[in-house]
Amino acid sequence: MNNSNSTHGLSQAQLDAHWMAFSGNREFKKDPRIIVSAQGNYYTDSDGRKIFDGLSGLWTCGAGHARKEIVAAVSKQAATLDYSPAFQFGHPKSFQLAERITELMPDGMNSERLNKVFFTGSGSEAVETALKIARGYWRKKGMGSKTRFIGRAKGYHGVNFGGISVGGIGPNRAIYGQGIEAAHLPHTMTAENKYAKGMPEKGAYLADELDELVAMYDASNIAAVIVEPLAGSAGVIPPPVGYLKRLRELCTKHNILLIFDEVITAFGRMGSNTGAEEFGVVPDIMTVAKQLTNGVVPMGAVIAKQEIYDTFMDTAGPEYMLELPHGYTYSAHPLACAAGLASLDILARENLPERVKSIAPYFQESLHALKGTQHITDIRNYGLAGALSIAHATVNGKAEPSKRPYEIAMKMWKKGFYVRYGGDTIQLGLPFTSELTEIDSVINALGETLTAID
Ligand SMILES: Cc1ncc(COP(=O)(O)O)c(C=O)c1O
Repeated sequence: MNNSNSTHGLSQAQLDAHWMAFSGNREFKKDPRIIVSAQGNYYTDSDGRKIFDGLSGLWTCGAGHARKEIVAAVSKQAATLDYSPAFQFGHPKSFQLAERITELMPDGMNSERLNKVFFTGSGSEAVETALKIARGYWRKKGMGSKTRFIGRAKGYHGVNFGGISVGGIGPNRAIYGQGIEAAHLPHTMTAENKYAKGMPEKGAYLADELDELVAMYDASNIAAVIVEPLAGSAGVIPPPVGYLKRLRELCTKHNILLIFDEVITAFGRMGSNTGAEEFGVVPDIMTVAKQLTNGVVPMGAVIAKQEIYDTFMDTAGPEYMLELPHGYTYSAHPLACAAGLASLDILARENLPERVKSIAPYFQESLHALKGTQHITDIRNYGLAGALSIAHATVNGKAEPSKRPYEIAMKMWKKGFYVRYGGDTIQLGLPFTSELTEIDSVINALGETLTAID
């Protein structure tokens, strides 16, 4: 039964049946925003309106939507080999994709090169896998007490128990009780760096807090530090100059693994193949997802350095034994592998990381030109990622951080722009294929919207 006055064609029962992810379900179901198709940098909604995709899906579709090469590769794969068991048997494309991913990893120093790829079904699964590899690695090396993780305030590492434990976004953890052992570095969004363009100059010293955490917990109890090179979900927080290098040095000094969660930053968004390459720091383990398949089929991956892989291989007993008792039914799914190969082809052929680098300065200047517009309290950016911090509204004497961002995003949607609102921020993750005129349009619309709201 359809709602007579709606164009989305969904019945109330259908709307009610779906408990939507990370959504205000009650609000959404009163006035659903239904997307029915996508092409290039635009969505079409159920009213037939064209909407600019200002977050590339969820940081996923940088190469634009409905890319013919990816569509063809996935359709062909579905007709050729729709599924093959992920455990103990293989199919060609997972090995081809693994090699391609390793080619995009930054040059490490000798054994530091990241060259072993473990596939998962999502970013959250990649994070859990990385954490398990880190703990297992130390156990295999006879240092089984190294179990604690160090994350960072404002970090986002997906939604599973390991991820929310190392994550540093309060509301994502608040109602779920006991997680795993984790402590947190401070975030790097300091008052002195407000309105910094790109990487802030000051703040490398914040990495030194790792020394304090080591003094408190002892390195013999710490498995790994996990950070996003650029924190995405908390509202685009680029690393201060020298910060990641300092973190790397301290992890090496204390014999703690360094994990970069590159679920947003890998494959172009920063203007390089990875954040590690862009910021010149090589972790021991990296997690990726999202842009890996241009968002077309869910997939994540963990990339580890040779020595970590070797440690598992060398300590597992007879060769028929599992070295890592871990994996997912959908690890290395054939459709995801086909999508991954096709989307990494596009990335290379169209030189998309280079394109991001070339238009990032224009994006930076346009975004920062909003400074002084009412309600904006900070602006941050790197590559084709940007965010505005928005002054908290007061409702019944109480601060409501997400009220204005929600209103802004809804007004933007009505104007034909999809942008993300999260916490007290508005976030932009423009398609790598954005034209300068599209950057102008979305920034102008944001300026007008901010000026119009209370
Ligand atoms: C840095 C980071 N890690 C992990 C995740 C979780 O990925 P997924 O939503 O695919 O589980 C995200 C998602 O936004 C992310 O940004």
